Amino acid sequence: MILSGGPASANEFSHELSRFSYLLKLGVPVLGICFGHQLIAKLVGGEVRRGKGEFGRTFIEVVRDDPLFRGWGRREYVWMSHRDYVAKLPSGAEVLAISEQGYVAAFKVRDSLIYGVQFHPEVKHTPKGIKLLENFLELAGVRRDWVPTNYLSRIINEVRERVEPGAKVLAAVSGGVDSTVAALLVKKALGSDRLVAVLVDHGLFREGEVEEVLSNLRRVGIEPLLINARDRFLSRLWGVRDCEERRRVIGEEFAKIFKEVAESDPSIKYFLQGTTYPDVIESGFEEGADRIKSHHNVAALPKWLGLKVLEPLKYLYKDEVRRLGELLGVPKEVIKRHPFPGPGLAVRVIGEFTPEKLEIVRRASKILEEELRRAGIYEEVWQAFAVVGDDRWVGVKGDSRAVGYVVTLRVVLSEDAMTADWARLPYDLLDKVARRITSELDNVTMVTYAITSKPPSTIEPC
Ligand code: XMP
Repeated sequence: MILSGGPASANEFSHELSRFSYLLKLGVPVLGICFGHQLIAKLVGGEVRRGKGEFGRTFIEVVRDDPLFRGWGRREYVWMSHRDYVAKLPSGAEVLAISEQGYVAAFKVRDSLIYGVQFHPEVKHTPKGIKLLENFLELAGVRRDWVPTNYLSRIINEVRERVEPGAKVLAAVSGGVDSTVAALLVKKALGSDRLVAVLVDHGLFREGEVEEVLSNLRRVGIEPLLINARDRFLSRLWGVRDCEERRRVIGEEFAKIFKEVAESDPSIKYFLQGTTYPDVIESGFEEGADRIKSHHNVAALPKWLGLKVLEPLKYLYKDEVRRLGELLGVPKEVIKRHPFPGPGLAVRVIGEFTPEKLEIVRRASKILEEELRRAGIYEEVWQAFAVVGDDRWVGVKGDSRAVGYVVTLRVVLSEDAMTADWARLPYDLLDKVARRITSELDNVTMVTYAITSKPPSTIEPC
C-alpha cells in the first residue's frame, strides 16, 4: 500500500488518528510519501511540526543501510515539496535518511515493511526515485506487469461499451497530443463517421498554429470542422485582469460553441475531452487535492450542454498518453509537441488583458521557439514560452528614452507537469533570444528568465 502526498497537514487529523491506525495493522507493506510519511509518523506516536519548508531539488543523506535504498549512494538529490516535517519518532522506528535541513527524510518502523519518505520518489526529478519504488515492490513481493498495450485495448473497449449504438461523439481538438490521441481512440473504437472533430480558433493560439494543427490532424486522418470564434472570445476577455475569470469565460464560450454544433446534429450525444490525470488533480476534483488552477477542461462543462462526457485519458499521465500515441501511429511532431494550455495565451498575460500584451507573448514565444529549434533544444524541454505583465522598464533605444514591457521567458523540464525544473539553457542562447525580442518588439525593453521550479511556482504564470 502506498499512501500518497497531499495538501493537508497530518496534524489536522490528530483528534481522529485512531480511525487510521488500522492501516498499519493490515499486515501489508506500506510506503508513505510526504503527507503519507507524516501520517505514519503520527500513527506510530511520532511528532509532526511546521518547519521552514523544502521545495524542489534537495540533498539527502542516507544514514542507514536498508533494502529500500538499494542502488542509492550516501548522498543523493531528491525532489521535495513540504513544510510540515517529522520532528520526532518513537524508539520503534529508525531514521534511514536525513534532509539538508536536518529533517527526517526517510524512516522505517522496526521489524516491519512500513516505510515513510518525505521526498517524492514518483517524480522524474528524483533521479533514483523509480529505483526506490522498484525496491519497495520487490520487498513487498509485487510483480511489475503493467504495459501500455493493455491500456489501449481496454480504453477502446470502454468507449465501445459506453457509447450507445449509432450515437456520435463531438471531439474538441487542439492539435495537442492529448486531444489527438483521444480523438483517434474514438475513431478506432467507433469509426470516422461517428466522430465529429471541431477545432475552435479562440484567437489565443500561437503564431501559425491553426494551420499547423489542421495539417497535423489531416495526417492522422482527422478532418476537423474549423470554427473561427476569435471575436467571440477576445471581445469578452479584453480588460479582464483575473486569470481564473478568463479561464471561466473561455470555458463558457467553448461550451456555447459546442452546444451550437451539437444542436446541428441530433445524433451527437457525447462530448470527448482529452483530460489527463494531472488536470484532474490540480483542478481539485480528486478527493484530498487542493485546487491549484481550474483547468477549464475538467468537470466544468455546464449541464445545459446536454452531452455526456467521455474522458478516456483521465487516469493517464502525459508520458503514458505519448506512449499510446506512438502505438496509434501519431506522427513524432505531434507527440513531441510542447503541451499548450486550452485557454492558450490568455494564461500567459499577467494583469490587464490587452491586444498589445497578447501580441507581445505571441511574437516573443515564436522567437523563443525558433531559437530553441535552431539550437536543437526544443524537443529536450517540456515547455518554452514568453510571459508579459504590467511592469515597465526604462530603456534606451536609438539614443532616446523608451519605456517598455518586461518579457519573462519560462523554459521548463518536466515529465508529467506535476513537477518541473527550469532549463539550464546556454547563456549564448538566452542572449540571442533576448536580443531578438528587444529588437523585433518595439515595446519591450527587458527580458528576464524564470528560474523557479514547480513547486513552489507553477509552470504557467497564472
Ligand atoms: P501549471 O501552470 O499548473 O501547468 O503548472 C501544468 C500544465 O498544465 C497546463 N495548463 C493548462 N492546461 N487548461 C489546460 O488545458 C488550463 O487552464 C491550464 N493551465 C495550465 C500548463 O501549460 C502545463 O503544461
